Amino acid sequence: MATQHRERWFDRFRNVRRRATDTTGLFAELHRRHGDAASFPMLGKRYTVFFDPMQMEEALIGHHECLHKGREQKEALENPCLVTADGEDHQWRRKLIQPSFTPKALRSYAGVMTDDIVMRRDRIDDGDLLDMNDLTHEIALSIAARTFFGEDLEDVTPTVIKEALAGYRWLIMLSFLPMRHFFRALPLPKSIAAKKAIRRLDDSIYAAIRRIRAAGKEGGELVSHLVHSWEKGHPRGTFTEAEVKDEVVAVLIAGHESTAAAMAWSFYHLSRNPEARECLEREVDEVLGGRAPGFDDVPKLPYIGAVVDETMRVSPSVAYLDRVAVKDITIGGTRVRKGDGALFNTMTPMHSAKYFPEPERFLPERWLEPKARKGRPRYAYAPFGSGPRLCSGFRFSRIQLVLALAIMAQRWRFDLLSSEEPPVLDLVIYKFKGALDMRARAREAPSLAT
Ligand code: HEM
Repeated sequence: MATQHRERWFDRFRNVRRRATDTTGLFAELHRRHGDAASFPMLGKRYTVFFDPMQMEEALIGHHECLHKGREQKEALENPCLVTADGEDHQWRRKLIQPSFTPKALRSYAGVMTDDIVMRRDRIDDGDLLDMNDLTHEIALSIAARTFFGEDLEDVTPTVIKEALAGYRWLIMLSFLPMRHFFRALPLPKSIAAKKAIRRLDDSIYAAIRRIRAAGKEGGELVSHLVHSWEKGHPRGTFTEAEVKDEVVAVLIAGHESTAAAMAWSFYHLSRNPEARECLEREVDEVLGGRAPGFDDVPKLPYIGAVVDETMRVSPSVAYLDRVAVKDITIGGTRVRKGDGALFNTMTPMHSAKYFPEPERFLPERWLEPKARKGRPRYAYAPFGSGPRLCSGFRFSRIQLVLALAIMAQRWRFDLLSSEEPPVLDLVIYKFKGALDMRARAREAPSLAT
């Protein structure tokens, strides 16, 4: 009895450490030992992880009103926003963000994306040693800054955003610790720096909102769409600048690291799979010649789209969804009590031979079959989630990834320097932990249009 008790306490701390550093490993072990639903204790709470896509559909669509967003992001973001809101509050926020992602808005973002990536591509020299983890974060950050706030960034610079996002990451990390409220209140140097960086970003966003409101007309930037849609559609008729600011911060957090990680994983898989890389290069040369791609070219590059889809299947940058039960419910025969955490491991079905033959192989071709997307349960492939909380930015992100792979392939091949597997970090975002060193090699390709 005493041993069991000690083990339980030991498990609680071990689970905290693994959840904060190796969620994927912890979940894989739980799945192996317990099957499609497994419970574990952590920080005085009970969590159940679900691995079966049918159970995910039953829970996240059928019982979505009984499952609210989990506490990890809620604690870091503090103020309500689309990413953390529930129920009616979530529904109207979702409606207000829609004008930011219309085809017209996406077309205008695509132009900014192309300019940015072409500029970065043309700065690379043959033989350069690049940290692709760093480069992809830089690209995603610069694109977020320019598409959100416009070309006239003034004080909302990529550095301001980068430092604030690092601050949020630190706060999310603290939220995994036992006595997290105590640690958050401590004047730790990293916490002080995090709060300062977050305040600086807040102030810059407030200034941008005021400029946009003063200009009166709707511009092409995401924040301008957001401000104007809030002005027109807010259910209370009025809104505070703080509400819009919180929404902007949430979208930045939701979109930036996930896209950067997916881009880094794409370059990694292309380097490990030279045949796929050659197919991609052939498509780029045939469809684009040497001209830069735009919004209308994205559907004309199906192989690159398939590379993106396959990357997100093998290495999804968001590998699980986090909820808390607000009522007692039963999911696939497993009882989840009110207050318990429910986690949905979307990575497991994407790696299951039941849904994807030869699941560990990187095979973009599987997405080119006409029936590729039919006949599978919807959560068998859900790198962007699904149902009422489907990622609002999935088109934004997919366009950016296709453009980045196409533009870089017009001039470069990136080769991994090491055959060893680079370490991965899995704290909310599944990504490379440190540098992803690759060598740029010029390829023979149609000359680039200037
Ligand atoms: C590869 C890149 C991305 C991945 C893998 C990704 C993944 C996801 C997933 C899985 C969810 C659902 C979370 C849940 O159900 O708990 C989500 C939600 C969300 N994403 Fe993304 N995302 C990406 C890029 C973006 C971008 C670029 C933006 C914005 C520009 C964005 C904005 C959002 C927002 C606002 C939500 C909350 C939607 C809601 O709760 O109704 N995401 N994302």
